[in-house]
Amino acid sequence: MLSLPFMRAAADSILNIQAAEAGPLKLECLEGRVPEGLSGSLLRNGPGRTERGGVRYGHPFDGDGFLTRVDFDHGEVTWQGRWVRTREWQAEEAAGRILYRAFGTNRPGGLLPNLLRMRFKNAANTHVVQHAGRTLALWEGGWPHLIDLDSLETLGRVHLDGALRNAGPDALFNPELPFAAHPKLDPETGELWSFGIAYGITNRLMLWIVGPDGQLRERRCVPLTGLPFVHDFVLTRDWAVFVLPAVRFQIGRALLGLSAPVQAMSLDQRPGTVLLVPRAGGPAVRIPAPPGFIFHWIHGWDDDGRVILDGVKYADFPTFDDITALFTPGRAGEAIAQAVRLTVDPASGTCEETLLADHPIELPQTTAALGEPWQVAWASGAPPERRHPFLSCTLRLEREQGVTHCRDFGDAVTGEPMPIPAPGGAEWVVQTLHRERSTELLVLRASDLATEARLQLPTPLPPRLHGTWLPREDATGH
Ligand SMILES: [Fe+2]
Repeated sequence: MLSLPFMRAAADSILNIQAAEAGPLKLECLEGRVPEGLSGSLLRNGPGRTERGGVRYGHPFDGDGFLTRVDFDHGEVTWQGRWVRTREWQAEEAAGRILYRAFGTNRPGGLLPNLLRMRFKNAANTHVVQHAGRTLALWEGGWPHLIDLDSLETLGRVHLDGALRNAGPDALFNPELPFAAHPKLDPETGELWSFGIAYGITNRLMLWIVGPDGQLRERRCVPLTGLPFVHDFVLTRDWAVFVLPAVRFQIGRALLGLSAPVQAMSLDQRPGTVLLVPRAGGPAVRIPAPPGFIFHWIHGWDDDGRVILDGVKYADFPTFDDITALFTPGRAGEAIAQAVRLTVDPASGTCEETLLADHPIELPQTTAALGEPWQVAWASGAPPERRHPFLSCTLRLEREQGVTHCRDFGDAVTGEPMPIPAPGGAEWVVQTLHRERSTELLVLRASDLATEARLQLPTPLPPRLHGTWLPREDATGH
């Protein structure tokens, strides 16, 4: 059992990390050997810092995006890391201090610098994807950033020929419409589906459908009631599915600058809403959902008229106001998620929830094809008997059996496991492991999570968020 003081020390040291640009550099193995057959590139995004100018952010996800690329080539591994050079990053870098409000951090100086300021720093720190030959760094509140795949240099901002420009009175608050950080690729059509929650006089869910040529093919607008917070969604063959939690947002507190927006949000224990948007067009279907907040989905599929949605659910809204929540048993309620299945029947208007596993779980990944049931998934998490530190384990799950393997890393924080697709699912998973003052790269056997290789990164990194695996043929050019 890990002692509480030890866990707090680990959390504090992970809080104080700032990434350093480097590379491409060759990495050496600390343990094992990188499999010869592992060939391709892993792109990852995540906050690269936890403070600016000596002021710690109020939320671990407010740190500027730091992109990394790891190339695997016949047992050799090279690594490079670069900041996403957003306008805000450039201005704050020159000033050496926080200039912008962020979702979880007010500008220093009290109320006045934050009053009525609802434009936030585009952290560009949540995901990096490749579509239509373009590499995009994503953050859910603003425009994507175009990245050079080879050098990781920032090339500019993407507004889809102006479609992401806000209009009318709402543009006074925010001139940009958001393009969320969890788009879904339909390999059959080549389309990239994404969304954005646009707050304004009428709150709206914007649906963006980008064609295989990178041009916006279609935009849809679904009016919303309330101020739901949605981070991820599910794309099946028939539906784009959003679960809208019953979030209480004290908009006055956020507008007046009394608190950062994230701290003005809490979860009502009232039912939420399953919003089913027919892919083929037509009116959306709304069905009551059980209370709770789902950050990430494992996968979803159509099943004889019903829609099956597997995701990870928090009983309370996970404000994660600092990363010590992951380590602190007293705050288990807000920071622990579990895998659940929502079985949605549009015909009867019902949604039933079942628990899939007892383990705390987050950052799930599967190689399942769009619209097909998943068989195996990998995730970060914790053992059910310990629960903390959350995200200290790598889990392997099967759809019918639940968790089959739990690899415990004790006091370290695991990054999102990336399964490397292979016939039958995956042969390896690759992930970061965040220790007190260093970050390692792990190659695990997908079947039983045994270590194939462990490598040292040249810079410590705060816990990473999401990324993309590029097979060898996709990892060159841009
Ligand atoms: Fe996410």
